[in-house]
Amino acid sequence: MAIIFGGRSSEHAISCATAAGVLSAIDRQRFDVVPIGIARDGSWLLLPDDPAPLRIEGTRLPEVVVGEHPAVVIPFGAERGRMLVAPATEAARVLGGVDVVMPLLHGPFGEDGTLQGLLELADLPYVGSGVLASAAGMDKQVMKVQLAGSGIPVGPYTLITRTAWERDRAVCLDAVASLSDVVFVKPARAGSSMGITRVVRSQGVDALVAAIEEARRHDPKVIVESAIDGREIEVAVLQGRGLNPPRTTTPGEIVVGGDHDFYDFEAKYTGTETTQLDVPASVPAEVADAARVMAAEAFEALGCEGLARVDLFYTGTGLVVNEVNTMPGFTPFSMFPSLWQHEGLAYPELITELIELALE
Ligand code: DAL
Ligand code: MG
Repeated sequence: MAIIFGGRSSEHAISCATAAGVLSAIDRQRFDVVPIGIARDGSWLLLPDDPAPLRIEGTRLPEVVVGEHPAVVIPFGAERGRMLVAPATEAARVLGGVDVVMPLLHGPFGEDGTLQGLLELADLPYVGSGVLASAAGMDKQVMKVQLAGSGIPVGPYTLITRTAWERDRAVCLDAVASLSDVVFVKPARAGSSMGITRVVRSQGVDALVAAIEEARRHDPKVIVESAIDGREIEVAVLQGRGLNPPRTTTPGEIVVGGDHDFYDFEAKYTGTETTQLDVPASVPAEVADAARVMAAEAFEALGCEGLARVDLFYTGTGLVVNEVNTMPGFTPFSMFPSLWQHEGLAYPELITELIELALE
């Protein structure tokens, strides 16, 4: 099997950390692993089978860099066109030699259906969602439309497209004014809270404009969401075997402490001393059950396969789906494996289960 990680998105380092977790724990009796890193420029590298340089150490973020690893450069990627003139590349040989691929990529160019499309073209089985569900899960606006269309509650938001913003900002800002006093400005297609800003109305319109421009640095398509007054709970979902319905875990809760306004990038990956993952979340049993049902419905509404983590808000009046992540953070300490560990499925067995689902 091959694992593919790194990639061109701003979540490159998180993907490396996910890969380090899988390399450390995968059942070596059953699987021969080919580690393939994608550098930020899109170059593909055949990397040594060593998780150590891929871990997040304190504030040091790992990176796949051409020339910095004892790696073989696969002539595929950054040098565009080469693939067209030389299809029998080493990449093709490497990928041709594996039975299944684990695309451990987060964010655009990997979690968004692009890599999944390449693997479909190559007729290679892979872990996780297919092209459409991956693409829909990556785009926060498309995801909301699809969830809402299936009757699943989502929060109020407004969409700011590139043309709308460049044509008439005032119209966009008017639409935001109809949302709540606290809003989250987000790039539509990013992850790990990259480019997200929390804005309070009293900060004034300049703060809102600055937040929109910041989000636009990640994606010209931006959404602004009303902040949901509630607790953030997350459910891990695995595809059912055969024709069985999706399997869900009891929810966990994100408790953000310290001086973080929300579960931002720092709180997610370097603020572990102030951020707590509570597994299980201390919510009433009927709320946990309702969250599981809603998470399974969201998984099916998007047409997910393999795995997903469904993030919800538990408010005084009910549950709202915030988002679905088709390749959630997957280090041994991440929420998704922790939730399955709590259900009795340990991290190495979880990896095996995902590969078996891909080969079903
Ligand atoms: N986008 C990050 C990796 C997550 O959802 O866990
Ligand atoms: Mg989330």
